[in-house]
Amino acid sequence: MSTWDLRDVPDQQGRRVVVTGASSGLGLVVARELAKRGARVVMAVRDVAKAGRHRAELLSEHRAATVDVLPLDLLDPASIREFAAAVTAEPVDALLNVAGIAGTPLRHNAQGWESQFATNHLGHFALTTLLLDALDRGWEPRVVTVASAVYRYGKLDLDGADHLTGGRRYSPMRAYARSKLANMLFGLELDRRLRATSSPVRSVLAHPGMASTPMNTNRCHTLLDHLIAPVATVVARAPEDAALPILYAATVPELEGGTFVGPHTEFRGPMRVTRRPVRPPADDRDLAERLWAVSEELTGMRSAMLSRAC
Ligand SMILES: NC(=O)c1ccc[n+]([C@@H]2O[C@H](COP(=O)([O-])OP(=O)(O)OC[C@H]3O[C@@H](n4cnc5c(N)ncnc54)[C@H](OP(=O)(O)O)[C@@H]3O)[C@@H](O)[C@H]2O)c1
Repeated sequence: MSTWDLRDVPDQQGRRVVVTGASSGLGLVVARELAKRGARVVMAVRDVAKAGRHRAELLSEHRAATVDVLPLDLLDPASIREFAAAVTAEPVDALLNVAGIAGTPLRHNAQGWESQFATNHLGHFALTTLLLDALDRGWEPRVVTVASAVYRYGKLDLDGADHLTGGRRYSPMRAYARSKLANMLFGLELDRRLRATSSPVRSVLAHPGMASTPMNTNRCHTLLDHLIAPVATVVARAPEDAALPILYAATVPELEGGTFVGPHTEFRGPMRVTRRPVRPPADDRDLAERLWAVSEELTGMRSAMLSRAC
C-alpha cells in the first residue's frame, strides 16, 4: 500500500458517485479524479454556481466526463430530503461524505443545533440514511465518511447538551473535534449495522492529514486562524496529495468495512496511504450506539433496514 497514488485509482466506468463538499478542497479533487476515470459524479453542494464553474473547467479538459451539480445544504433538513429525492431514482455506488466546516464561531441552524455538529455529523447521518436503499442497489457500494485525526481529542457527552448548544464555554476547535469524533463513531456503527444485515454496502472512514485547502488557508474567525493560515501553507499537504486516502477508501476493491484510511504522517512530506488503527474514544461501541439513537431522534431519519439489525 505504501506507494499508492493517483495512477493507482482504478477505472470508474459505470460507477455513480455522490460527493458532498465537491465545490472546494478535497471534495473537489475527489470529484474531479473520479470523473476523469469515468465515474458519473454528482456534486452535492450548497453553492451551485461555484460548483458549476468547476464542472465547466473539468468538462473543458475531459469532454467525456459526466458530472451533475445538485444543491445540498447539510444544515437544512429540507434540502437534504430534496437532494435525496433527486438522486435516489437510480442506484448509487458510492456516497462520499466529504463536506465539513472547522473551527467556526458559535452558530446554530434553524433547528438550534450547533453548526459544526449539525453539518459534519447530523447532516451526513440524515443523508446517508436517505441514500441507503439506493446504495443497496449499487455495484460494490460503499459509504466513505471523512473524519480527522483530531477525533482523538473529541469529547461527546450525550447526557448533556453541549454537542447541540455548543455549551456555555464554546470552543471552536473543541466543537470541531467533537464533530469529527461523531464522524468516526457513526462510520464504525454504520459498518456494524450493515454487517448485521448482510448488506452489500460497506462503511469505511478516511482522514486526509493536514491539507492546504480553504478550510485552513481561508480561515479568519479568530486570532488562531490568522496563525493557522500561513502555517498551513508551509506544513500542510497539497489537496491532490491529501485527497489520496479518500480516493483509496472510495475505490480500492475488497476494502473491508470499518477500515480507517489515512496518511502515515499528518503533515507535508511524501504521502503514504495507510490503514490506521481506530483509537479511543472512537472505539466506544456503547457511545456509538447511543449517538446513533440520538441522531435518529434528532433528524427523524431511521433506516428500517438498519434499525432491524439491532
Ligand atoms: N483540510 C484539512 O486539513 C483537513 C484535515 C482533516 C480532515 N479534514 C476534513 O476533510 C473534509 C473536507 O475539508 P476541506 O479541507 O476540503 O475543506 P474545504 O475546502 O473548506 O471544503 C469544505 C466543503 O464543505 C462544504 N460545506 C460546508 N458547509 C456545508 C453545508 N452546510 N452543506 C453542504 N456543504 C457544505 C463547502 O462548501 P462551500 O464551497 O460552499 O464552502 C466545501 O465544499 C472535511 O470533512 C474536513 O473536516 C480536512
